[in-house]
Amino acid sequence: MDTKKTTLLYNIGQLLTMDDHEGQVRGKDMNELSVKENYAVLMKDGVIEKIGPSSEMEKMEADEKVDCEGKLVTPGLVDPHTHLVFGGSREHEMALKQQGVPYLDILKQGGGILSTVRSTREASEKELYEKAMFHLNRIASFGVTTVEAKSGYGMDRETELKQLRVAKKAGENHPLDLVSTFLGAHAITEDYKEDPEKLLDEMADLFQEIKDEDLAEFVDIFTETGVFTIEQSRRYLQKAKDLGFDLKMHADEIDPLGGTDLAVELGARSGDHLAVATDEGISKLADSDTIGVLLPGTIFYLGKGEFARARDMIEAGASIAISTDFNPGSSVTENLQLIMSLAALKMKMTPEEIWHAVTVNAAHAINRGDEAGQINVGRKADVVVWDAPNYMYIPYHYGVNHVRTVYKAGQKLYE
Ligand code: NIG
Ligand code: FE
Repeated sequence: MDTKKTTLLYNIGQLLTMDDHEGQVRGKDMNELSVKENYAVLMKDGVIEKIGPSSEMEKMEADEKVDCEGKLVTPGLVDPHTHLVFGGSREHEMALKQQGVPYLDILKQGGGILSTVRSTREASEKELYEKAMFHLNRIASFGVTTVEAKSGYGMDRETELKQLRVAKKAGENHPLDLVSTFLGAHAITEDYKEDPEKLLDEMADLFQEIKDEDLAEFVDIFTETGVFTIEQSRRYLQKAKDLGFDLKMHADEIDPLGGTDLAVELGARSGDHLAVATDEGISKLADSDTIGVLLPGTIFYLGKGEFARARDMIEAGASIAISTDFNPGSSVTENLQLIMSLAALKMKMTPEEIWHAVTVNAAHAINRGDEAGQINVGRKADVVVWDAPNYMYIPYHYGVNHVRTVYKAGQKLYE
């Protein structure tokens, strides 16, 4: 990283500041986006110092002056749902997928998440850390400056804490901002098959320790057929809430169990996946502050036909974010730009909705609404200069990296 104190970005063709609306953006407001044309942004000591027309600012003094050549500039993206820390990989499961073996059947046979659990238990803290840093670099290369990271490949005390400590250290040492989530309730390991409640109790026993060591802000659970039921999820998450954790849920991903409804009932910060949410679930979501974090990359990768009903959710008035769900099994990509294309093509979200979904709403989904996802004076200078003429171009031209330069707190992070 360089250590320039002031950087002036001028001759910006389109600047998205993403601050048209107060707080998380819901319903039809998601489609309202103002664009500042021919603008400039001055970053000083890591913070946005001034925003204004390029003609008025381009003569200003700065340690570095960058001609953006009429390109697009936006806030750094926020990826609000990743399984960043894991051992091994699962390319050997690709053939099973091709033969049509369902994701939950692979899991039932001890593969899937449970295969990554074995690799993660075996991996040293150092190995996990180096791997997490590798993936964080790649996440950043796609324009992301704030990321959420879940545990969930341990399901035993030692490995869950190992994953959370790795995430914490990675967050401290990597320029990206990292928000940590405890997902100890991610699958049922062999020893607990007959008594999943016992596994949940053991994971809940870690809550206090995780709080005391400041290892996670959120608690998450995989509520799904063959994993945890609605009743188990309610009890477990309520305990976490009572201890002061904010909540997330892997909800209504494959079978419609009513996870969306439960996320709303518990006041979860987000309900994630929601691919098979019912009409009732969608209407509850729309009447709540719970953000729907939709993961179209996962549906694409699992080869499933049913993408989350983003249109119905937005039309009902919900707040929607999108994310990679980066993990070694159901969505093996760090590329949030690709997810933006899938959101457009498969969920029919408009470019304006998509930009809200990867900036301001994604930031609110991880309680970073006051810090990330917008460009305004006094805020941390997390900014991306894109090799693109306008904001519609990013979801349109799919599968490649459009980033020209990523600035994290005013410092060049990637170009
Ligand atoms: O969000 N659905 C559960 N958890 C992850 C997948 C994890 C894995 O397959 O390793 C998800 O899709
Ligand atoms: Fe996930």
